[in-house]
Amino acid sequence: MNKFPYIITVSSEKGGVGKTTLATNLAIFLKALDEDLPVSIFSFDNHFTIDKMFSFKGDKHEHTVTDLLSGETGNQLLQTGQYGVNFIPSSQNLSQAKKMIKGPMSLARMISTSEMDGILIIDTRPDLDILTENALYAADKVLIPVKDMPSLENCRNIFALFDKRGLDKKSLVLIPCLIDERIKFDGLFADQKTLLRAFAINRGYKCHDTYISKSPKVESLNTNPDGKIYPVLTHGRGTDVHGQFTALARDILADYQATKEPRSLLFHNWLEAENEKERISYEARLGGLNRDCLICKRNILPESIGTAGYYYETSDGIFSGFLEEDCFLKVLSQSIYNIKGQISDEDPTLMLLRESTRDSIFVLRPHPENCSSAVEFRRYDSSGQLLTNRRINYRDHAGGMFHDDRCPLYDIVGTTLSGYGNSFREAFLIIHPVEPGRPDKILQKESYRSFSTIKGSIAAMIT
Ligand SMILES: Nc1ncnc2c1ncn2[C@@H]1O[C@H](COP(=O)(O)OP(=O)(O)OP(=O)(O)O)[C@@H](O)[C@H]1O
Ligand SMILES: [Mg+2]
Repeated sequence: MNKFPYIITVSSEKGGVGKTTLATNLAIFLKALDEDLPVSIFSFDNHFTIDKMFSFKGDKHEHTVTDLLSGETGNQLLQTGQYGVNFIPSSQNLSQAKKMIKGPMSLARMISTSEMDGILIIDTRPDLDILTENALYAADKVLIPVKDMPSLENCRNIFALFDKRGLDKKSLVLIPCLIDERIKFDGLFADQKTLLRAFAINRGYKCHDTYISKSPKVESLNTNPDGKIYPVLTHGRGTDVHGQFTALARDILADYQATKEPRSLLFHNWLEAENEKERISYEARLGGLNRDCLICKRNILPESIGTAGYYYETSDGIFSGFLEEDCFLKVLSQSIYNIKGQISDEDPTLMLLRESTRDSIFVLRPHPENCSSAVEFRRYDSSGQLLTNRRINYRDHAGGMFHDDRCPLYDIVGTTLSGYGNSFREAFLIIHPVEPGRPDKILQKESYRSFSTIKGSIAAMIT
């Protein structure tokens, strides 16, 4: 059975608010509360705090967070760490890794197939870069530490990101951190945490009941002669922070247990539904294809699909199919280059043409000035840049493979674009090269999307 983790992201644009301390210690307290619960952690920061805290002496780190971002299965990157917490070692190449991220939901997609289980905690950099953004959207709960008014002000940007994308903000929860209990105020808001909480609630932010105090003992845990970072659980007993982390971990454990369907599972289900929709669209596209080559009339589907060299589709989507590569090249050589008579398959002109057409997209339509006697022939490069625009008259060419004196391009236009009575439809035919041996790939998701994009931009140019 697939596994789907409950994800907690710790994030704040403000540096030094206690994110990493919160993320790492929360992982340890959660594991201490339930030793059977898989708890994992990784960081999008390159401070290597996580590595220092969880690595066993002499551990070799074969994988890093970069491998996760490049598509490797998360579960296989996890390293067993101290205190029973699994971790993915941090990466020094995060700027490289960032380039692999294609959009804001990439991490959610990766984690939904990561086979990770239990609770996954993600620590982030004090920056709303694409990695943080991904970590925010993937999370069931985003803990936002706030220690003062500037950090509270900064939360606005996280909330605004969710608003911009129309995402539900219920996952976002503020938590007062580094609270100095010695500071007291006169009046209604007697101390820092009460004041911060009041401001947070006033702005419509959810705020955690628990807070984390500032403690000299906790501060000293990452400054010691051993060069280690010690956890609050083992080295901060007796401090308020120890009790606060216990309370926080209990709350989070209760939320985890109450969440029957974590976001990673919902995302997985959504992806499955999308894939199914895409499969149905692909099959509909395949099923709607004209089964013969437009030129030689040989059946090109499904047995001989491997020999197709071009895919064609009318701009109104009514007619679509594949063309044998050599058929179309011969038509081009006759109609555009005016080569007369039969052409052998080894003809150097044909070979040259084959090479140059692999990066071209062709458009045919009845000529706008005289549709009954001419065809407009356009050639574009693969980015949609117009290379050629020619008028080909009905009887411009002097015979060829069909032993008749009609321009074969005119036949193609007639077959695909004829309308009611003797008229043509207000449309054009686009002919696009396909991957040799895999012509049907053009009908699949990404390729069909790029084909449709180019078709759309050509339509915008010529209509
Ligand atoms: N409860 C606490 N009491 C005292 N000191 C703390 C506490 N929590 C964190 N600190 C100290 O505050 C400093 C910043 O903490 P931490 O590194 O967790 O913040 P951060 O938000 O992750 O910082 P960055 O934005 O640089 O990643 C560290 O020196 C840490 O030891
Ligand atoms: Mg940090």
